[in-house]
Amino acid sequence: MSSRLEAEALYKVFGRRPDAAVERLRQGADREELRADGATAAVIDASFTVEPGQIFVVMGLSGSGKSTLLRMLNGLLEPTAGSVRFDGDDLTALSDRDLRVVRARKISMVFQHFALFPHRSVLENAAYGLAVQGVPRREREARAAEALSLCGLAGWEKSWPDELSGGMQQRVGLARALATDADLLLMDESFSALDPLIRRDMQDQLLQLQQTLKKTIVFITHDLNEAMRLGDRIAVMRDGRIVQTGTAEDILLRPENDYVASFTQDVDRSRVLTASAVMDGDVRGDEADCGCETAAPDTPFGELCAISARLTHPVAVLDKKGKLVGVVPRQRLVGFLGDEQSAPSVCASPRDRGGDKGGDKVVTRA
Ligand SMILES: Nc1ncnc2c1ncn2[C@@H]1O[C@H](COP(=O)(O)OP(=O)(O)O)[C@@H](O)[C@H]1O
Ligand SMILES: [Mg+2]
Repeated sequence: MSSRLEAEALYKVFGRRPDAAVERLRQGADREELRADGATAAVIDASFTVEPGQIFVVMGLSGSGKSTLLRMLNGLLEPTAGSVRFDGDDLTALSDRDLRVVRARKISMVFQHFALFPHRSVLENAAYGLAVQGVPRREREARAAEALSLCGLAGWEKSWPDELSGGMQQRVGLARALATDADLLLMDESFSALDPLIRRDMQDQLLQLQQTLKKTIVFITHDLNEAMRLGDRIAVMRDGRIVQTGTAEDILLRPENDYVASFTQDVDRSRVLTASAVMDGDVRGDEADCGCETAAPDTPFGELCAISARLTHPVAVLDKKGKLVGVVPRQRLVGFLGDEQSAPSVCASPRDRGGDKGGDKVVTRA
């Protein structure tokens, strides 16, 4: 079973008088003011919880503090202030020795440029973390082979790294992390160096693996589309601070400030949204039993469009028990594909439903 990760009021200041800098930050100073004094506030007051089995994505531009935050999560960097708890341990309070043990057994990291050992086979590379743990050869090779197979590399065990494509090498890195059985996976821009198609493939692979492995994952990226694809929850960082934490839909439909909103402008909404986000939920609890096609709250946007195209009336959204929870008139779908201004206005006016002739028919025809 996976474990919970909790970061509480984490600060990391590099440079001069870090503790004094934290005090000033607590009193509202920003990065620029501190820089003038020779201190770099890399991470400022970051708090979040990652539930077992979740993928928590930290998204932000280069320099926003993502890698520094991640290094505090595995104890590679000591926070200037704040604490990190994982699996019952306060990592910030452990002795160096205990911390090394936790790091070797419970935490795995996957970096952007995964350095494979060129003169070791793919299998030996995948088994490296286990070798560090002192796991006997036979067991570590069996576990590494299993991890490679999970990552789609069965049959490549005896190959050399340079016989593999970039995407495959990155899979070996992922396999190395998975082979150790570590509960917590920390992934720093792990897919950022890959070509778009391979990158998509790796994202799918990770999501698929996660369905069975249910690790606790912190995934760092500067790409909002990647964040939205992978993240159960997403933290958006700016200048060292987390400026919003939420689901992909929260970030897209309810940005807490202009900065987050400007980020979401280029996001392909159709990839993120599901029926529950676009439906009109003001449906007066009627039953829907029209014998026609319906959607579920988690039906993806694209599928919803296809259903809508086959119907002459709005799509009914039913929950697991078959209870009507919302309706989606066609023009509502169109509205959500537009810019960020149009979607909320469609949301906000239930009366607009009348615009779709027979808008309620699907509801009342029961
Ligand atoms: N070891 C360090 N010493 C001094 N400054 C650092 C160090 N590591 C990172 N920084 C600074 O902290 C800020 C955040 O960096 P980083 O965490 O690497 O951001 P990101 O991963 O989001 O690109 C940057 O301004 C960077 O220059
Ligand atoms: Mg980084």
